Amino acid sequence: MKITVVGAGAVGATVADNIARKELCHELVLLDIKEGVAEGKAMDMNQTAALLGFDTRVVGSTNDYSKTAGSDVAVITSGIPRKPGMTREELIGTNASIVKGVAENLLKHSPNIIIVVISNPMDTMTYLALKSIGIPKNRIIGMGGILDSSRFKYYLTQALGCSPADLHAVVVGGHGDTTMIPLTRLATLNGTPVSNLLDAETLKKVAADTMVGGATLTKLLGTSAWYAPGAAGCALVESIVRDEKKVFACCVSLDGEYGQKDICLGVPVVIGKTGWEKIIDYKLNAEEQEAFNKSADAVRSMNSVLSTLTL
Ligand code: LAC
Repeated sequence: MKITVVGAGAVGATVADNIARKELCHELVLLDIKEGVAEGKAMDMNQTAALLGFDTRVVGSTNDYSKTAGSDVAVITSGIPRKPGMTREELIGTNASIVKGVAENLLKHSPNIIIVVISNPMDTMTYLALKSIGIPKNRIIGMGGILDSSRFKYYLTQALGCSPADLHAVVVGGHGDTTMIPLTRLATLNGTPVSNLLDAETLKKVAADTMVGGATLTKLLGTSAWYAPGAAGCALVESIVRDEKKVFACCVSLDGEYGQKDICLGVPVVIGKTGWEKIIDYKLNAEEQEAFNKSADAVRSMNSVLSTLTL
């Protein structure tokens, strides 16, 4: 098993660090365009191996894609993160050409690769990667819903005073402050609907806090998050390389499922060794489906910006 992480910024390095600690592969390649950054961070991670006891070898490289040859899975984190007050959507002009180039280079050296996209605006970057390299749709997975679901569980633990491990809670739709849909109706604490335990107003606040979960901490930090995105990216890779068949909300290409087509959007999928293996139908009610359709409209209009860019 060989894994590549492109982009050695805070998110990329955290994904790589998590992958190494979990020994998800023997060789982990970390790439960045900034001279020396990937090499330096790889060396730093390798110097934790004796302390943490892992065998994964991290190879850093300044943009040499030949080092990625034969990768089974790659995670794209390249591009710029958002600053306080920015939406993820504002990053499209800079990140689209970067993500397209990265996806093309990865495919050149690893024809059977499964690609996880984290770069923002993630739903549109996933769609772009799929359209530009044309590999089977099951091998392109956008990482957003797992992260947003984890943030949803965080706010639920605050409201319920419970362990996050006892919660099942999923966020579908786009990975944007106004496009994500925390499915409060379907959230449970050990099988009990959380709506039995929390009043409607509290649940509404939990959902609202979840939607701006990334923005709230971006305001505090001055830049976008990395611990939770890094852990979420690694969880997704783990389910692929260990063929775990976990169900995660991921951004995948829809062909009529959830009433949408020609779009990549967050829905619950089974993640295994061939990528996303099937979409699970959560049977949204009318209100949830309407929110999903609105989310799709917003993401589709972002996707249409791609045709105005020189990529
Ligand atoms: C976030 C970025 C990774 O939500 O989109 O933190």
